[in-house]
Amino acid sequence: MIIEPKMRGFICLTAHPKGCEQNVINQISYVQSKGTIEGPKKVLVIGASTGFGLASRITSAFSSGAATIGVFFEKPPQEGKPASPGWYNTVAFQQQAANAGIYAKSINGDAFSNEVKQKTIDLIKADLGKIDLIIYSLASPVRTNPATGITHRSVLKPIGNTYSNKTVDFHTGIVSNISIEPCTDEEINNTVAVMGGEDWEMWMDALTAADALEENATTIAYSYIGPSLTEAVYRKGTIGKAKDHLEATAFTITDKLKPINGKAYVSVNKALVTQASSAIPVIPLYISLLYKTMKEKGIHEGCIEQIQRLFQDRLFTGNAIPTDEQGRIRIDDWEMREDVQNDITALWPKASTETLGEIGDLNGYKSDFLNLFGFAVEGVDYAADVNENITIPQLQ
Ligand code: NAI
Ligand code: NA
Repeated sequence: MIIEPKMRGFICLTAHPKGCEQNVINQISYVQSKGTIEGPKKVLVIGASTGFGLASRITSAFSSGAATIGVFFEKPPQEGKPASPGWYNTVAFQQQAANAGIYAKSINGDAFSNEVKQKTIDLIKADLGKIDLIIYSLASPVRTNPATGITHRSVLKPIGNTYSNKTVDFHTGIVSNISIEPCTDEEINNTVAVMGGEDWEMWMDALTAADALEENATTIAYSYIGPSLTEAVYRKGTIGKAKDHLEATAFTITDKLKPINGKAYVSVNKALVTQASSAIPVIPLYISLLYKTMKEKGIHEGCIEQIQRLFQDRLFTGNAIPTDEQGRIRIDDWEMREDVQNDITALWPKASTETLGEIGDLNGYKSDFLNLFGFAVEGVDYAADVNENITIPQLQ
């Protein structure tokens, strides 16, 4: 079939297999251009099919030659309907890994469930014995806690006060004012239940109980801080409470991993265009100014540049892993640079429907968004007929 982007609100309902494949190939080429990293050998990536998790899987496999098991939740193709992008990304990743002779297997299912944890552990035990790196990179609006059976839904709201600011509809370029009503306590608890550290700890407990962790095993989860501009809706909002919980959970897990001298870290990453961040009010406007500023300064990064740098300059240098006072790895250092943030603070009041095309990187935002679904990728012939009905090799 010929596949075109089909937008509905902040989501795209279609994905292009060739574009997704090209994105994966480009990411592999990027990490290979940076040389090898004396890194992990046997890696589990939870949330491995898109965004930071996919970049972590690619860096593990193609910078360090690591065996990877990837867990994700993606929609397979259906009669006349393309799969979700993470499906096609993984088809391409598995093919590239096979070509390179690198072990890779994938599991598609709900990572929050006991079943998927058990299936993953069985696979580790059968094929790898033990693992030395666990990347936790889930982004989900909903989680059913297997211990209680309760389904929690996260919200993106401020806490305490109504928050008003500017935002942009990046499809139309229209900048407008929005107000978001504060959340309830229950909404905070639900958001923490979905995006906090409880499930990460459950994974690490299950892996420990199964004796599936090597001596000195490391686990990393991803967080975000951002500027004061977005604080009310992000870091001091409901999602920020979940990130506080995730960051606190790193210490709990490190304590539990003492017998094997293992460590849990949170890495604070840069703001990037993903399906999740596009749905947060104000953030797309911030990102379009951030991209423009960082590109002008020659320090713009996507997921793969961020994770390659995380591995090369933070995790696997042969020295102690540098952290901030709260024990967090900071790979958002360039985003948070004073000159970058000062520029954005100065641009913010000037941002309007009329000016944004000039002072912000709206086109960069749009093309990154399309790229997430395999569209607007250079070198792909979108007029050509493609087979959407492809299966993931090595899917367990
Ligand atoms: P993403 O949406 O690109 O990736 C999410 C991954 O989780 C996908 O592989 C998806 O299949 C998987 N997933 C979702 N629900 C699942 C479930 N129930 N079972 C199994 N797999 C499931 O998200 P992104 O942006 O890469 O986010 C990953 C982490 O990075 C999140 O913790 C996010 O908060 C954090 N982060 C994101 C930033 C951004 O600007 N996008 C910035 C800094 C941190
Ligand atoms: Na991810």
